[in-house]
This record gives sequence, structure tokens and C-alpha cells, in this order.
Amino acid sequence: MAAPSRLGAAEADAVRAAVARVVGSDTWVGGAEVAGFEAAFASYLGTDREVVGCGNGSDALALALGTLHLPAGAAVIVAPDDGGYAAGAARQLGLAVRVMDVDPDTGVPTAATAAAADAPDVAAVVVTHLHGDAVPLSGPGGLDEWRRARGLALVEDCAQAHGLRVDGSHVGLVGDAATFSFYPTKNLGAVGDAGAVVLPGPSAERARRLREHGWGERHRVVLPGGRNSRLDPVQAAVLTARLPFLDDANARRRAVSARYRAVVGLHGDPATTVAHHAVALVDGRDRVATALAERGVATAMHYPWLVTEMPGLAATGSAPAASGRRDRKLSLPCFPGITDAEVDAVVAALEEVVR
Ligand SMILES: Cc1ncc(COP(=O)(O)O)c(C=O)c1O
Repeated sequence: MAAPSRLGAAEADAVRAAVARVVGSDTWVGGAEVAGFEAAFASYLGTDREVVGCGNGSDALALALGTLHLPAGAAVIVAPDDGGYAAGAARQLGLAVRVMDVDPDTGVPTAATAAAADAPDVAAVVVTHLHGDAVPLSGPGGLDEWRRARGLALVEDCAQAHGLRVDGSHVGLVGDAATFSFYPTKNLGAVGDAGAVVLPGPSAERARRLREHGWGERHRVVLPGGRNSRLDPVQAAVLTARLPFLDDANARRRAVSARYRAVVGLHGDPATTVAHHAVALVDGRDRVATALAERGVATAMHYPWLVTEMPGLAATGSAPAASGRRDRKLSLPCFPGITDAEVDAVVAALEEVVR
């Protein structure tokens, strides 16, 4: 049920042409295709911040954290339910990980849940706009106000939130850096792995060095903590080709999730979502999943494990509200290429199973 094989004809043609253009060129690493996508995506986001392409969304998180000049051994507060990507990046940089819980009603972190996870060694917060649902950050008493008062850096993980706008502005521009994954099933997807960091000029310069070994000039490492995580020009060309289709694709995702929302409670606010996932909240989740499978509806869990339940992440803290919601979350089929008949079938199955 993954989206890439269901592209419309015009988008598929644009993708094929993009790949052929790079294959026929003499630049297979870096070059104009990468710079072109970075400029196009910055323009789409409506920001004078810079887009720094990289190999994937996980590296984007590590690069973003690497620009923040965090003290050695500092801790980062992360969401408890985001699949562990932010925590994994923090651990790679030798940072400690603490989880913040979510609000039990809305399912997203708040200033209060972040403050409850705070400790003297905390130097940064990573907020994840999970499932394509915006985490409210701005405004009085908001998470951004709290972290500024506390002197903490903020990274927004937008891997599931391409094209998501709050009050007319794209998410990802409130914090010190935003990260994106362009994994093929993301709202904006490449034909393989790809990612990007979005950040202000001086930090962007540092991210550009860190993504290429920490080089100051070619073959001369000047920054510690570098890696090889360049954005591939084939992926850059494909992303440039697909960008004009993103808003329509998101509209389709929202329309599909609205059909489900009429039948079953969904995570998130319909006013601020790009429906990366359509996550139903149901009692007896495993029973519901089995009953839907018997009716031919494939579902998924995003994500089965909390960050605190993954031994490799060594995270501290507890998140009882996130744990309770995790047990009720069930992701329904939601991608731009899904047909109306398939959506009708999911709705009919839901009506039988959850009503
Ligand atoms: C919320 C979130 N953050 C980070 C990532 C990592 O992105 P990638 O798979 O491109 O490394 C993903 C991808 O699955 C994600 O969903």
C-alpha cells in the first residue's frame, strides 16, 4: 500500500524525466540539481533560511543537532512516541536522551510536559510533527516560549510534515533548525533515501561542512563530527519534479483522513494536518486490526515501541499518557494514490468493526 507505485501519469513522467536528466549529465554527485532543489524547497517553504540537502532524515537530525554547539554530555528532550529517530541521532552525538510525555487529550507535547522532563543537563528539545499533525509551538505559554525562557535550542522534526502550514506559515521555521526525510512514502518522497536540514545562514554553513566529512575545503577536515551524507542529484532532481504536486497530494491525504474521521476518532486536529498517517484511536486495537485484516484492510502501528522501550537508545523518563495512546493507535490506509473505491471499502469495514 505504499504510495510511490501509484503516481499519477503527469507526476510519473516528471520523475522519469528528472532521473533521465541526471543520468545523461556529467554530474552524479552534488552540482546544480542539488542546489536547485535546495533553492526550490526554501522558496516553497517561504523562508530566507537555507535548505541543506543530505542523505536521509536520520542524518538530517544528527546534522541539525551538530549545528547547535551543545555541551559535551548534554541531554536532549525528545518525543516519547516518534519511532526513536531523534533519540538515535542524539545518541550518535554522545548526547543523553530524556523523553517528554504528551498531553493525554491532544496526544502532543506541551510546555508543561516538556518542563516536566527538564533537568539541569538538558540543552535542547526536539519536537516531532508526528503523523503530519502540527505540534503547537507558538503563542503565550507555548512550548517555544518556554524553551526560549529556559535557554534551550529547538529542532523541529518535519519528516512527516512536508507542506504543513499553521496560520499560513510552514512548520519548521520556529525552532533553530528543521529536519526533513524524503523517504519514498513521505508526503514528499524521493526514489530512494534523501533528507534535508533547514536553518539560518551561519548554521547552514556548518551543516554543509558536517554533511561532507567536516571539510572546510575539499579533503581538509576542519570540524569534528562530520559524516558523508550528501543529497544525491538523482534524488534532488526527483524532489524538484515532485514538489509542484505536493499540495494536491496533501489535499488528497486530508480528504481521505476526513472520510475515516467521520467514522472513527483520529489523532490530531483536522485544521493542522497533512495526514501523513491517518491514525485511528480505538479500544481493543489488536482486535480491530485483526477484524479489519479479515475484511482486506491492511493497517500498521506508528510506532509499536516507545523511545523508553528501546534498549539501544538508553532514554530516561516516563511517558504514561503516550503509552496509553500508543496502545490505542492504529494507522489506516492513507496515501495520495488510494482510490475512492479503496477508501469506501475501508470506511465500510470500519463501520462494521468499530461502530
Ligand atoms: C519522524 C521521523 N523522523 C525521522 C525519520 C528518519 O528519516 P529517514 O528514514 O529518511 O532516515 C523518519 C523516517 O522514517 C521519521 O518518520
